[in-house]
Amino acid sequence: MQFKVSKSSTLNAELTVPGDKSISHRAIMLGALTNGPCVITNFLEGEDCLSTMEAMRKLGVQIEHPESGTVIVHGCRGKFTAPASDLDCGNSGTTVRLLSGILAAQPFRTRMVGDASLSQRPMRRIMQPLAQMGARLTAEGARETLPLVIDGGPLAGIRYEMPHASAQVKSAILLAGLFASGKTTVVEPGPSRDHTERMLDYFLVRTIREGNEITIHGGQTLESRDFKVPGDISSAAFWLVAAAAQPGASLLIDNVGLNSTRSGILDVLVRMGARLREIVEVVDEGEPSGAIEITGAKLTGTVIEGEEIPNVIDEIPIIAIAAALAEGKTTIRGASELRVKETDRIAAIASNLRAMGVEVVEFDDGMEITGAKRLRGARLPSFGDHRIAMAFTIAGLFADGETIIDNVECVATSYPSFEETLRLVRSGKAIRRKPAGERGTVGASVERNRTGAST
Ligand code: S3P
Repeated sequence: MQFKVSKSSTLNAELTVPGDKSISHRAIMLGALTNGPCVITNFLEGEDCLSTMEAMRKLGVQIEHPESGTVIVHGCRGKFTAPASDLDCGNSGTTVRLLSGILAAQPFRTRMVGDASLSQRPMRRIMQPLAQMGARLTAEGARETLPLVIDGGPLAGIRYEMPHASAQVKSAILLAGLFASGKTTVVEPGPSRDHTERMLDYFLVRTIREGNEITIHGGQTLESRDFKVPGDISSAAFWLVAAAAQPGASLLIDNVGLNSTRSGILDVLVRMGARLREIVEVVDEGEPSGAIEITGAKLTGTVIEGEEIPNVIDEIPIIAIAAALAEGKTTIRGASELRVKETDRIAAIASNLRAMGVEVVEFDDGMEITGAKRLRGARLPSFGDHRIAMAFTIAGLFADGETIIDNVECVATSYPSFEETLRLVRSGKAIRRKPAGERGTVGASVERNRTGAST
């Protein structure tokens, strides 16, 4: 399947985006650890989250899917049954890494497999701490890669200093810590998304944060509760950039997650010159959510590095498109993790941007992009990576001539309705019905100005 796009008219739209991928994975896994039924709404039916759902079913968890977006997980207090066959994690790093933390404590053997991309991705990062806690993990792949065999058993709490900021590694250890004797402490070298901690708290299991250390005491049971998944800011990011880079454009995205460990994209776009308003409406589900209103402008280049990187790691492909459309240079450093995502995203971005006429200097840990006066339409590979496919589709909306993205089936990993929204945006049918000022519940509204300071 291909996407074919060409220059679009000025974007003026009001949209919602599907449920958050990271949170949907956790809703299923944590729901299964509770002591009863949990009704999860706005669940993302992306392939990655469906992989988690199927894996949990194979572990004996009863999961109903009565209608689109609603899933009922019958919590079994984390007492699973040995699966009859391998757990297929598909393309999903979150499935394999988070689930490893739970499986490390089960009194049986499991074997996890994945697709060609996932089978290249490093697993040592979770194998090492989980082995320290007492599990036996064997990677059958050539470079500590999948298939991963876990012989679980009794675990003992550890204190673990993570070499890199990673929410997946942190989560795997905290989930294992829930089953371990004593306490388990994870030390983060820098902040990473905190959905696992927030959701554990929501299900009434306390994690204790002291500075960059997070501690969990083993032996606690999660209380079953219903949970609404907010919209995915990583999916919203594609439309945010489409609007931000187009002077005169205006976009409102409602019901989107605004967790500050995920909303770095907003800071980046404000630094680049976009005018933006965040309206936080819901905070009581453990995850803040609300609306983002953005007005397009002529963007200028920026620098993204250090502690900001984990916050925007999944948005770098679309930020690179904003950089290509901006005046001047944008530098991204300290992002070598991009080399081991669904594809080598540094190489993929550089190669596709160059095909569109953009000057890119590649570093081991990032890139420097010189904003182009014009983008040239091109035929581009997706590299089988959902975020590369979507980012370059947005680039095509700004390019001269036609842009074709090949093999876009991968988009279903995180955003199955992307094409439908693209069509709505392009046809002008996603037009706002009411001006933002007339909208209903408005809680704390934060306006971020040109310098990034809140007003
Ligand atoms: C995720 C964490 C991030 C992110 C990934 C989802 C999660 O990975 O890139 O898409 O749900 O915890 P790392 O924690 O490995 O950086």
